[in-house]
Amino acid sequence: MQKRGAFISLEGIDGSGKTTLKQSLLSALSGKYQTIGIREPGGTVISEKIRRILLDVHNDGIIDKTEAFLYAAARSQLVEEIIRPALSQGKLIIADRYLDSTIAYQGYGRGLDIKFLQDLNRLCTGELKPDLTLLLDIDPEVGLSRRNKEIPDRLEKEGLQFQARIRDGYLRLLAQEPQRIKLLNAKKTTDILLQEAMTLIEDLLD
Ligand code: TYD
Repeated sequence: MQKRGAFISLEGIDGSGKTTLKQSLLSALSGKYQTIGIREPGGTVISEKIRRILLDVHNDGIIDKTEAFLYAAARSQLVEEIIRPALSQGKLIIADRYLDSTIAYQGYGRGLDIKFLQDLNRLCTGELKPDLTLLLDIDPEVGLSRRNKEIPDRLEKEGLQFQARIRDGYLRLLAQEPQRIKLLNAKKTTDILLQEAMTLIEDLLD
């Protein structure tokens, strides 16, 4: 059992396979570590309620800044209620999205000011960053084809150009923080992705 907790986030555009990777990582790691899986927006009763507002296709009146504040509010609740306590109990957290999603989606996707969003992220997380972020990179068209059977939520309805800007945003974040953010080619098979992710996680925890 690791002495201190560790915080790993998974990031990528819609359809990049984060949720599948999260499940296989949790299965692979739970024998050796006390693991906890979370998702954003969500992960607490309050944050799941905010999630419903955010993803509801009927809420097309939400302005971009309100959207950013709602993601931040959901995150703030998650950090205080789940993430900080879990880290202080030495747990290993695998998060499906965290603060990079706000920069990629509301910043590069919607066009909100990046500095404003960085400040907002600092406020809602109290500067708590992941120890490691795995960025699942994929062509937006491939991501879309993987989601073809699902009914698109409010964000997914934005289309391919929106996803392309988000992907580009993630790649900029990668260039800015190469120590924390590691790139995975999401076109690889789930088994290979799991192996590559496990190697990066073991390097972090050693
Ligand atoms: P979800 O169904 O969880 O999508 P995915 O499985 O791709 O993670 O929906 C979350 C949506 O919210 C997704 O489109 C990304 C978006 N999002 C933001 O726009 N900003 C954020 O800060 C977060 C956490 C998510």
